[in-house]
Amino acid sequence: MPAQDHEQTILLGVTGCIAAYKACELVRLYKKAGKRVKVVMTPMGTEFVTPATFRTLSEEPVALKAVDDPNAAIQHIVLAQEADVFVIAPATANTINKLAHGVGDNLLTTTALATGAPLLIAPAMNVHMWRDETTQASLVALRERGAIIIEPESGYLACGDTGEGRLASVEEIFAATIVELDRARSLEGKRILVTAGPTREFLDPVRFISSPSSGITGYAIAEEAARRGAEVVLISGPVELPDPFGCTVIRVQTAQQMLAAAERHFKDLDAAIFTAAVSDFRPEATAQHKVKKKAASPEVRLVQNPDILATLAARVGADFDTAATPVAGSNPASSTAPAPGADFGTHTPFIVGFAAETQDVIEQARQKLIDKHADLIVANDVSSPTLGFASTHNRWHFVTAERVETSAVLSKKALASLLLDKL
Ligand code: C5P
Repeated sequence: MPAQDHEQTILLGVTGCIAAYKACELVRLYKKAGKRVKVVMTPMGTEFVTPATFRTLSEEPVALKAVDDPNAAIQHIVLAQEADVFVIAPATANTINKLAHGVGDNLLTTTALATGAPLLIAPAMNVHMWRDETTQASLVALRERGAIIIEPESGYLACGDTGEGRLASVEEIFAATIVELDRARSLEGKRILVTAGPTREFLDPVRFISSPSSGITGYAIAEEAARRGAEVVLISGPVELPDPFGCTVIRVQTAQQMLAAAERHFKDLDAAIFTAAVSDFRPEATAQHKVKKKAASPEVRLVQNPDILATLAARVGADFDTAATPVAGSNPASSTAPAPGADFGTHTPFIVGFAAETQDVIEQARQKLIDKHADLIVANDVSSPTLGFASTHNRWHFVTAERVETSAVLSKKALASLLLDKL
């Protein structure tokens, strides 16, 4: 588990290139700043600087092999969990390409696969290796997954060439590390509620109305928020995803169940993020037994489901309005009285809604912002077959009353991080 209440742990990965000697200075800077530093080296890394040097500077054993001690805990898992941030400096083209493809063939690459800590990569290599198409594609893939690339500098290289590929300055790598460590604690003490996935509205015990929502977005947001120190309650419809690390997960099926669960937890929140693709309608009645094929074609009457976001967001307004200026009937949410025990203390939760649209994306989002009493609507165009619902990538428009900001096409994990930066 990332160190929260003690000194922060920086895991420094050192790979095999001449710039490895600069990692010694980096360890010194981290130590001077009062951080705990664990160094993990690739076998080639040890050809350039001996582990003894890093052991002395870091005052910690250096991790070299997965099974140094057969009686010890599993090294890569321990390292992965201890790390508040994983910095790979210098990172060779070889290691970068392996990371992009999920190869775990040494302790450093296996640990990178196992950790949920932010990953900072400071490449160092020959200019031709840097410009190589594979290397560039790997950097794009890693960036999309949320890794931070500390761009190399251009100049004279140890191999005699001139061009990009020289390790960024240790001061720059140090500063980027500190920014990440601060971000990792940016939501400490905050309580966040997230809804995710589709809902199922049953016609009979085996048939339901639903949507193809994968839940990836909500799960990525919940996990990232927990990683930044927030206390997270994730209310999820049926999805095929494991519980995200560090969150309280409540699994529900229907919109009504989702609303009931969200109501129970809609207290003392700092933010509520509604990503669920809730079914707007449900059958008026659910048959107790499976409807037989041979029966006459059944008529299905649909009724409106509650809008979870709008219902709860309106309560925030109601709670405050009644406390401040009790104007009878002025609140559109007056039909939904504050939940018993709803207590927002001195601050209102920041309400985020999502809007999946196929046309007039921004306009629709602006309208939703008003209709649903949200502070931010994250809008996305789901008309493209490669983005949105079941895909891993998306482009988001962050729509508030003041402005619209549009992201690049990024992985949902990277987008989750971007959203939490905005909170
Ligand atoms: O109006 P529309 O369904 O497009 O709004 C989407 C936003 O509202 C999402 O944030 C979604 O989670 C939320 N929503 C909800 N309950 C509903 C319908 C939508 O919370 N019944």
